[in-house]
Amino acid sequence: MSKNNPQAEVKSKKAKVKRQKAKGGVARFTFYFLLFTFSLTAGCRYDMQDQPRYKAFKKSEFFSDDKAMRDLPEGTVARGFLRENKAFYTGKKETAGTVAPVEATIDATGNTLVASFPDDIEEFPLPVTKELLDRGEERYKVFCIVCHGPVGKGDGMIVRRGFPQPPTYHDDRLRNAPVGHFYDVMTNGWGKMNSYASQVPPADRWAIVAYIRALQISQNPSGMNPMPMTNQTATPSASSNTNTQGGAR
Ligand code: HEC
Repeated sequence: MSKNNPQAEVKSKKAKVKRQKAKGGVARFTFYFLLFTFSLTAGCRYDMQDQPRYKAFKKSEFFSDDKAMRDLPEGTVARGFLRENKAFYTGKKETAGTVAPVEATIDATGNTLVASFPDDIEEFPLPVTKELLDRGEERYKVFCIVCHGPVGKGDGMIVRRGFPQPPTYHDDRLRNAPVGHFYDVMTNGWGKMNSYASQVPPADRWAIVAYIRALQISQNPSGMNPMPMTNQTATPSASSNTNTQGGAR
């Protein structure tokens, strides 16, 4: 019908062009729409590594003390570090700090001498067993023997090569020193001696103390107190021991 009608033919051609244009428009619109939304979502990506943050020890403009690192609230305890058992973890009595500290003197060799240790516990806060002594021997040979020597006379290999000589464990002062003192020396260091707290955990420190006591007894079998433990009835008595045989230094 339209074939013979040029007007109608033109019309239908126009309509076709329109339809095609409209089709192209939709495609273009979809293309730009998608491009736009993709660009938007790309902009939204925010990885964890990009978030605003402070580096440790950096300065901060935000906090009044200018420190980016915040202090822990008072009384914060790290998991596993509650350490309620004061005697076990510090070697100190509950009353520690209430008695005036005993003055230290420096002897001729430059070592730090303290005659009494009122703050340090006198009984082992754990049972002294054969296993504990064996462990103590092994640890002593790893950490202490190099300076203190195989029986604790202060003649270890490092000392023979020139390191300041530690005192012997076999004089009256250290024989009568409470077990807490030995623990304290390892935990906090003593004079020229470093702390061993980071290398030797608390239970091992007590094992070493027990082994040092065993060494002391080995050099002076008749004059030593037995090893007093908290869970035993034995109470340490002040030793009147004057035997200094092992203490030649
Ligand atoms: C690098 C050498 C060295 C090592 C290793 C070492 N000590 Fe000592 N120790 C010393 C010296 C030096 C002194 C004397 C420090 C002073 O009086 O200034 C000393 C002193 C001591 C004392 C005597 C404290 C007093 O009242 O006079 C004890 C106890 C002791 N050490 C225990 C240990 C134990 C336990 C270990 C192993 C965990 C150990 N030491 C490892 C060098 C060492």
